[in-house]
Amino acid sequence: MLTASLLRWILTRSRRPFAFEACPLDWHPEVTGLEQIGLYVHIPFCRTLCSFCPYCRELYTQKKAAVYLPALLQEIDRTGQAVARQRDESSNPDIATKRRATSLYFGGGTPALMLDDLPVIIDRLRQYFEITEGIGIELHPQDITPENLKRLRMAGITMVSLGLQSFDPEALARIGRSEDRFAERLGWVREAGFAVIDVDLIFAIPGQTQDSLRRDIALAFDLGATQVSTYPFIDFTYADNRYKPMDKKAKRQLLDELAHFCQEIGLIRTSVWTFAKPGTGKYSSVTRDAFLGFGLSATSLLQHTFSINTFSLAGYIGRLEKDQSPTALKLNFSLRQRAAYFLFWGSYGLLINNQRFTAIIGQPLEKLYGVEMALAVTLGFLRRSGDDYLLTNRAIRFYHDLEQLYTTAYIDKTWSIARKEAFPRRFTLS
Ligand SMILES: C[S@@+](CC[C@H](N)C(=O)[O-])C[C@H]1O[C@@H](n2cnc3c(N)ncnc32)[C@H](O)[C@@H]1O
Ligand code: SF4
Repeated sequence: MLTASLLRWILTRSRRPFAFEACPLDWHPEVTGLEQIGLYVHIPFCRTLCSFCPYCRELYTQKKAAVYLPALLQEIDRTGQAVARQRDESSNPDIATKRRATSLYFGGGTPALMLDDLPVIIDRLRQYFEITEGIGIELHPQDITPENLKRLRMAGITMVSLGLQSFDPEALARIGRSEDRFAERLGWVREAGFAVIDVDLIFAIPGQTQDSLRRDIALAFDLGATQVSTYPFIDFTYADNRYKPMDKKAKRQLLDELAHFCQEIGLIRTSVWTFAKPGTGKYSSVTRDAFLGFGLSATSLLQHTFSINTFSLAGYIGRLEKDQSPTALKLNFSLRQRAAYFLFWGSYGLLINNQRFTAIIGQPLEKLYGVEMALAVTLGFLRRSGDDYLLTNRAIRFYHDLEQLYTTAYIDKTWSIARKEAFPRRFTLS
């Protein structure tokens, strides 16, 4: 059986684990050498805490949000100024241009709980970054009101991701949610005129069937979704799920069937777990070659490092009050570790592009993985198309299992540690 360690050995050709170490107090992310970066802002507050949810979140109070905002702005200033200094050193000082950032995503938690503050946060980011492709936000069903949507549009938000999870009241009840006028709310979203409307659905909740999942997907698109994200239900070790997800085989069968159905109704598969209407934009905060994260638990993926901010609200605020880095852990990639990371997330997006690989890794794909790529083509996992390697259905099926393996071996472990200790000293992922 393939394990995360075995895959890591194959791709990095080394037994060296991913080693995270404590980040220095004066640390700044290094963004030079990267042509495209995305921005991410984490707003950790929620009205209630869902039992199935693994993310870094806190029960909302006005008081907590009021102390979070200045800390967040301080982090943006701190990083923004460092990025500007790096540009001055590497470019012509006479041309004072801002750093280009392809996109900005607000995730959480429930970012709309800080709706009043979003324009301030966006303005502050715009002091340092020119956002070229749009701004996205995750919305909880309760956030979706005509008034909120109007204010989001006015703040410059162009993409929304709606966490509906299912339209089926029984499936919702099993994860502690309920159907609350979803059709009406989607109508308001349609009228508000967002360029991208993603609907998040979860599959493999006990009791769901192929028919009920087909209905979920068809309904989401009928009601205006431009994209549907269908996540397999994952039981994180620290979650409190009363109903456990279906088994691996059932999950794989359900996804196969969903993919088949989406193809039948003319949708395009845009990643292992997302399907979209042809010609529409993508809502995707993770499938970026590089990104800078701000806020509690936010991660940054850069050319040579991967870093994670503290999960502790008090720790985050305390550090920023002293103008110190809120980043708890940092991983310095070896060349092949960075390449493995690129290949892993590229594969989630179904495509590995040669030029982008070279731009980020600094060496051609075929030089580092010539044998592996040729073998993957021969075995029917990849198909060559110009400068791209495309994943075949066989590879997608394999990746679906792999992503869940990675979630338990790496994400669950990292987040479990980060939840327990504000600033851990070091740990490894092997
Ligand atoms: C940050 S979360 C939620 C955003 C928003 N606060 C909400 O509740 O609608 C983003 C998405 O991750 C997915 N998700 C959360 N926990 C999950 C789990 N245990 N298994 C699978 N998907 C999960 C859900 O589809 C969710 O909408
Ligand atoms: S699923 Fe959404 S609302 Fe529920 S705890 Fe997670 S982030 Fe908060």
